[in-house]
Amino acid sequence: MTRTPYDPARDGAQMAFDGRMSYTDYLCLDAILTAQHPRSTAHDEMLFIIQHQTSELWMRLALHELGAARDLIAAGDLRPAFKMLSRVARIFEQLNNAWDVLRTMTPAEYTRFRDALGQSSGFQSWQYRLIEYTAGNRNLAMLRPHAHRPDLTAALEAELARPSLYDVAVGRLAAAGFALPPEATARDPRAPRAPHPAVEAAWAAVYREPERYWELYELAEKLMDFEDYFRRWRFNHVTTVERIIGFKRGTGGTSGVQYLRRMLEVELFPELWHLRTSL
Ligand code: HEM
Repeated sequence: MTRTPYDPARDGAQMAFDGRMSYTDYLCLDAILTAQHPRSTAHDEMLFIIQHQTSELWMRLALHELGAARDLIAAGDLRPAFKMLSRVARIFEQLNNAWDVLRTMTPAEYTRFRDALGQSSGFQSWQYRLIEYTAGNRNLAMLRPHAHRPDLTAALEAELARPSLYDVAVGRLAAAGFALPPEATARDPRAPRAPHPAVEAAWAAVYREPERYWELYELAEKLMDFEDYFRRWRFNHVTTVERIIGFKRGTGGTSGVQYLRRMLEVELFPELWHLRTSL
C-alpha cells in the first residue's frame, strides 16, 4: 500500500506567504545569510567568518541585556536585573562552547587564508569593547582603532559617559547605607575604576551576613558569574589562538598570545574577587 506523503497544510500549517511576513522576512535572513564573503578560496575561511559573526550576534544580545540590567540596578529594581545577568553568563557559556567548533581548524588550514585577513582582528571588535566598557573596564586607548568610524566612536563615547554596570552596583552599596567615599561613588565615568578598600570592606560585610543583605549578595554573585564566564571566554580564546598560530604576532599587530595572556589579568569587578581572601 502506498502512503500519501504527509501534508502539514492539513495540520493547519501556513503554506502561502505572498504578501505576508514569513520567517525569512522577520529574521532578515536575506541580509544575514548573504553577509559571508570569504577573501580566499580556502574551505575553512567560511568557518572562521561564521564563528566571528555568530559571536558578534551573541555579543549584541549580551549588550542588550547588560544595558537593561544596569538601568534596573540603578533604579533599585534588582530582581529582573538578576535574570538578565544570568542570561549574559549563559551567553558567554554558549560562546565558550563555540570554541570547540573553531578548534577543528588546524594551523595548516588557517594559514591558507590568514594573509587574506590583512590587518583585521577581533581586537577591533567594537561590541567587545562596548561590553568591557559597559561592565566597567574603561581603557580609553581602545577607542583608537575606531577613530576612522565616527558612528562607532560615538557609540563607545556614549557608553563612557554613563556609569558602568559596576558603578551602579557599588551605588547600591551606598544606597544600603555603607559609608563609601566620593571617589568610589561619584566618579568621572570615563576614568578607569581603581579598586577601593572601602568598597571591598562593604562587599565583605555583605558576604559575612548574606541573610541580612540578601539582594546585594545575590547581585554580587550574579556579577561574579558573568565575570567567571567572561574569563573562561578569554582563556579559551588564548588557548585556541596558541593552538592555531603559536606565538606569531596577531593580524591586529599585537604580540598575540602574550598580549592575550596579559588580558587574562583584567578584573571587571576587582573588589568582588579580592574580598574572598579576607573572608
Ligand atoms: C583562528 C581563530 C582566532 C585567532 C588566531 C585569533 C587571534 C587573535 C589575536 C592574535 C588577537 C590579539 C590582537 C591581534 O594582534 O590581532 C585577538 C584578539 C581578539 N580576538 Fe581573536 N582570534 C581568533 C578567533 C576569534 C573569535 C572567533 C573571536 C570572536 C569574536 C575573537 C575575538 C577577539 C577579540 C574580541 C579580541 C580582542 C581581545 C582583547 O583585546 O582583549 N577571536 N585574536
